[in-house]
Amino acid sequence: MNKAKIVTAAERFVRARLEKEYSGHDWWHAYRVARTAKTIALNIGADAFVCELAALLHDVADEKVCGNEAEGLRQVGDWLAAHDVEEDVSCHVLEIIAAMSYKGGGRPPMRTLEGKAVQDADRLDAIGAIGIARAFAYSGAHEQPIHDPELPPRSEMTYEEYRSGRSTAINHFYEKLLKLKDTMNTDYGKMLAAERHDAMERFLRRFFWEWEGEI
Ligand code: ADP
Ligand code: NI
Repeated sequence: MNKAKIVTAAERFVRARLEKEYSGHDWWHAYRVARTAKTIALNIGADAFVCELAALLHDVADEKVCGNEAEGLRQVGDWLAAHDVEEDVSCHVLEIIAAMSYKGGGRPPMRTLEGKAVQDADRLDAIGAIGIARAFAYSGAHEQPIHDPELPPRSEMTYEEYRSGRSTAINHFYEKLLKLKDTMNTDYGKMLAAERHDAMERFLRRFFWEWEGEI
């Protein structure tokens, strides 16, 4: 099993699969999550190869990308088998991918250090400067306004409401993004999240000042 070759092949596979994906799970999201997951892994002593591979592949099996999570996992499993990935690595990567995704927070916690690192990296990509950019891109794509002072953030909502209810990009910060720093698994992830959280708070403060013409 040549790790560098497998990572390069995974990059090519994911890039081809997510090239035309605009639901917020494009190839560059996978790229960033893989980089961040590797950084976290090196800082906390987790297996960097497992983290990088799981991070690269994590959205290929997402229901929003391939319509059906079980089918997506099967495809990732086939890909791992076809690329001579050792069985224990392959099982571990599939376990991480299956357990990923926020989905209102209803899933069991990550079992392994590697899983915790990848989940932190995925959440980090939803906050900070990148998170701000993604929230507005998602809103534009879903025909939601930037902000509407007459549409307050929703505090309690079902998964269906979260997915389909009418909201705004700014509300998404209050409904999800500002809560993410408290869901980090690793100390290193918490540290990165704190910085990115501050960046969002500074952005929001300015946003409301400018909205009211106070700056
Ligand atoms: P995940 O599968 O990681 O939970 P999502 O599909 O929920 O990702 O979100 C993809 C990106 O789009 C994220 O950056 C997220 O913050 C953003 N996003 C999701 N829902 C909304 C929304 N209602 N308004 C604005 N941005 C959103
Ligand atoms: Ni993701």
